[in-house]
Amino acid sequence: AHQWRGIIEEYRDRLPVTETTPVVTLGEGGTPLVHAEALSELTGCEVHLKVEGANPTGSFKDRGMTMAITKAKEEGAKAVICASTGNTSASAAAYAGKAGMVSAVLIPQGKIAMGKLGQALVHGAKILQVDGNFDDCLVLARGLSENYPVALVNSVNPVRIEGQKTAAFEIVDRLGDAPDIHVLPVGNAGNITAYWRGYKEYAADGLSSHTPRMWGFQASGSAPIVRGEVVKDPSTIATAIRIGNPASWAFAEAARDESGGFIDEVTDRQILRAYKLLASREGVFVEPASAASVAGLLKAAEDGRLDKGQRIVCTVTGNGLKDPDWAVAGAPQPVTVPVDAAAAAERLGLA
Ligand code: F0G
Repeated sequence: AHQWRGIIEEYRDRLPVTETTPVVTLGEGGTPLVHAEALSELTGCEVHLKVEGANPTGSFKDRGMTMAITKAKEEGAKAVICASTGNTSASAAAYAGKAGMVSAVLIPQGKIAMGKLGQALVHGAKILQVDGNFDDCLVLARGLSENYPVALVNSVNPVRIEGQKTAAFEIVDRLGDAPDIHVLPVGNAGNITAYWRGYKEYAADGLSSHTPRMWGFQASGSAPIVRGEVVKDPSTIATAIRIGNPASWAFAEAARDESGGFIDEVTDRQILRAYKLLASREGVFVEPASAASVAGLLKAAEDGRLDKGQRIVCTVTGNGLKDPDWAVAGAPQPVTVPVDAAAAAERLGLA
């Protein structure tokens, strides 16, 4: 049987590597594309989930990070740096550790999920909490990479986008053609940029008959692209996309406009509703930011903006185990029973 070899080996001819490039991989990519039956029924469409939480560090960032760390190693870098709302730092720390490089991460104080902080710590990153938000962290990381011997591995590094575009390849390879619509959450806007690049590349090479419309969703409290202006103090429970000045803003608008799509917002309440539906009906536990794609799809369906019968892929970007607080919050505590079948059966409503 074929063992998935990571995105660089699987898509080598479409990525900026040579025979001698020292590939740093954890076997990322090759993630499940799951037919979402409940969402298909709710929307009257054929909906699939691209489950990126199944990547080695639990998010889509690994696709970009295998490229970024590989290229940094090829160029002889000894240290890498990133700003992060949590997932990029977890991924950078893991891949840098594997490559024998030092990783430094800048995170907004008190605003990243505990699971992600734990990952950066255990993978050995040097962590600084910045008295500011993600946008401030990115300004600082860029400045440090310009003036000190440390390579920037945020998605402003173009090889990150190259790695992340492989998710679009996998979807077309699996479905046999591009979907009609691709839906995803938007934070710093690197991923929508990457998917659009991947879909365009396959269509240009005749590997798909068309490109999908790109639908992006920001959280209402952090929706600079929707508002058309920088959000100074972004807020949302979806901390991964708590970003007020996305680095790839112009690329995201290009993806939207060239594809005939749109970028809209969803409220935290809509995000949490989709988060629970994904877990309880589809069996897919995601982190809140990831549920923004599905929340957006449901919103579009309810607003009558979704024609029936279309083939749709929603990217769910990160694993729910990174940020389980929202699964536990507000839920009743499990009841305690003695070691007694009759009592247990009664509590379970079986008796
Ligand atoms: N979903 C998750 C789980 C994320 O971690 C991110 C971004 C996004 C969606 C948005 O993707 O930025 O490419 O538009 N997380 C970054 C980080 C900012 O630092 O981990 P995007």
